[in-house]
Amino acid sequence: MNKATVVSGIRPTGYLHLGNYFGAVQNFLRMQEDFNCYFFIADVHSLTTHPTPDNLQAGVKQVLAEYLACGIDPEKSTIFIQSDVPEITELYTILNMNAYLGELERTTSFKDKARKQPENVNAGLLTYPVLMASDILIHKAHFVPVGKDQEQNLEMARKFGKRFNRMYKSEVFPIPKPFTFDGADLIKVPGLDGSGKMGKSEGNAINLFDTEKDIRKKVMRAVTDSGPTEPNSEKPEAIQNLFTLMKIVSEPAVIEQFETAYNQCEIRYGDMKKQLAEDIIKVTLPIRERIVDILDDNEHLAKVARMGAEKARESALKTLKEVKELVGFRKLY
Ligand code: ADP
Ligand code: TRP
Repeated sequence: MNKATVVSGIRPTGYLHLGNYFGAVQNFLRMQEDFNCYFFIADVHSLTTHPTPDNLQAGVKQVLAEYLACGIDPEKSTIFIQSDVPEITELYTILNMNAYLGELERTTSFKDKARKQPENVNAGLLTYPVLMASDILIHKAHFVPVGKDQEQNLEMARKFGKRFNRMYKSEVFPIPKPFTFDGADLIKVPGLDGSGKMGKSEGNAINLFDTEKDIRKKVMRAVTDSGPTEPNSEKPEAIQNLFTLMKIVSEPAVIEQFETAYNQCEIRYGDMKKQLAEDIIKVTLPIRERIVDILDDNEHLAKVARMGAEKARESALKTLKEVKELVGFRKLY
């Protein structure tokens, strides 16, 4: 039987952080065993924030090394760099004709970015969901493993896929679904600065590439308060975030111990942070060591990128051909 297809990407705008790892990459690792997977580095998307050419190139190499260090296997999955597959941007041009200003302006990620970089509200930011839809639809993906923050962008991809199918009376695009294992919700890994999600542009990220010292320092600086004064109090957001992270990286018995201490107003945040830092390091340190080794091996990185580009282009070209035929780009010669 044919395997279902999976597509997902990460922008090379910095190091991979715990949000990327637990929100996306961990699912990639399990999915590559049973699905036809395309995991890519979204360097075209990165241009919306105007990185310098050197930073962009370094970011692409870093994320490629990090994918491999996490265990994404180029023999099982297709790992590629988005700009190596020009068919994606060709599909983007076509899909843009059926994407409307109103719906693009209403996207939360657009509104957020426009607020964060008011000096650079470019057309690429506005049509970001169309490019993301092209990434997904070009491989006829059935599933897209992403974190909670991408839910709306994925909904747009579904909408653009359905709209194209309807307009051209075809079933060229399967309608992609968000994916997690065992029906779990899409996750949001919080930052340690007392609010919101962990993110590269939030400046609150704990990276897979951070040293042990960096991680201890970042965790010890996490925002807390003076502790509860009533037993079984509700947790303020900053404290809840600390517990949420602990639920992701620590053993159940450890979490239980700090929950009990909190409920009995005996919690010592210093101890909790020390424990949390060590449990994060247990996850990240072996990955960091592999990243360092892989970054040294330019030949291997080049080979993986070349192989991925070939496989991804083959799949992309097939879809694009069908799409062009459907819209009426038919040869006169
Ligand atoms: P960032 O948000 O740090 O710039 P990306 O936007 O490139 O990173 O995100 C790549 C993937 O990582 C997406 O699937 C996204 O949903 C996931 N992701 C990013 N941050 C988080 C987070 N804090 N919690 C869960 N998933 C996240
Ligand atoms: N927009 C995603 C993010 O910022 C990254 C991304 C680009 C993506 N294209 C994609 C994720 C296609 C899944 C599928 O997190």
